[in-house]
Amino acid sequence: MPGHTRSFTLALFLDTWNEATVRRVKEQLGLSVLYCTIDTITRERYAELCQAGYDDVVPYPPAPDYVRHWERKADEDQGRVTLESLVSRPRKSSYTDFRETKPFEHLSIAPRRAKVICVTGVKGGVGKTTLSALMASALMVKGRRVVLAELDPNGNLAGLFRTDRTVTADRFETLPDALTDPELEQNMMRTAGGWWLIPKGERPLGLSRDGAERLIHLTGQYADYVVLDTHASQLISTVVALQEADVVLGVTTPDRTTWTDLRPFLQQGERPAYLILNRVRERPRRAADIVAFLEREIGYRVVGVVREDDGMYKRVQQGLAPMGSRKTNAEIQRILRAVSVLDTSTKSK
Ligand SMILES: Nc1ncnc2c1ncn2[C@@H]1O[C@H](COP(=O)(O)OP(=O)(O)O)[C@@H](O)[C@H]1O
Ligand SMILES: [Mg+2]
Repeated sequence: MPGHTRSFTLALFLDTWNEATVRRVKEQLGLSVLYCTIDTITRERYAELCQAGYDDVVPYPPAPDYVRHWERKADEDQGRVTLESLVSRPRKSSYTDFRETKPFEHLSIAPRRAKVICVTGVKGGVGKTTLSALMASALMVKGRRVVLAELDPNGNLAGLFRTDRTVTADRFETLPDALTDPELEQNMMRTAGGWWLIPKGERPLGLSRDGAERLIHLTGQYADYVVLDTHASQLISTVVALQEADVVLGVTTPDRTTWTDLRPFLQQGERPAYLILNRVRERPRRAADIVAFLEREIGYRVVGVVREDDGMYKRVQQGLAPMGSRKTNAEIQRILRAVSVLDTSTKSK
């Protein structure tokens, strides 16, 4: 800018300052203060930090482009970011929301090619992982690219499929926002079935919001199908999966504890959600009653009834990858067609 001395606002990354210090740094030094974290951040914690004066919360290490955003703002504001300018300027609600505008424009214009399926539920042991794996296999038709991402920090997909965990979901915390196909493939494990697995990483609470969004975004551009196997709680990665998926499949069993609170849980998502009743041992009449009850009480359509598959159960007990019986696999195919994920053609587009 002519006649104007270019000066930058420094972005600071720290997490132990108290509110008074944060405000002093901002007001007296005119600096932007970003809270930098390697942990999972809930919406509540995010609001708390903003309340405490931080301008935004960013995952560590922060994306340089994003940091530059704060520097550029300083330039436009004649080299100083005052508290007033920060307050009066419409705030970006998060690092992620910011990506919808500059300088991450490519993110919003690059179309997603994949159908993203979120497999979820409110209880462990209902078969989320098993059904996710069966779906990945069912979707693996020659010429198609299928990715199964394990967002459950307690999962064991790498063990089941005997892939090592040299690359894990944790990588998506720090990967760039754009990757070529071969680059992305270096961050996934190829299973014997031909589909790609992204095993869970070491983070005890799973991926951060940003990490989960990046994973979905990158795989969504690469693959034809992305299956997200989630944890049965409100981890931030579960919430992101619920919000980002094209279709949500909530898994329950005939055990009533697996469907209490399922409705508000699924309502967090924005896309169509359906139910799968899994591990059914009941006779067909009784199973139909449960289906009717679920549809009435939970308010979502039951698109599949998967019966207890003893052969598959035995395999898994022996540490082998889940492989369904013909009947089980037929039901999985039916479910995928019912939610318009699988079309009847078998050739790649
Ligand atoms: N339809 C089924 N028939 C037989 N066993 C099943 C079925 N679905 C899941 N299981 C078994 O139930 C157990 C828990 O399944 P899992 O997929 O790990 O649940 P989640 O991911 O919801 O915690 C595993 O031992 C799995 O083999
Ligand atoms: Mg699981």
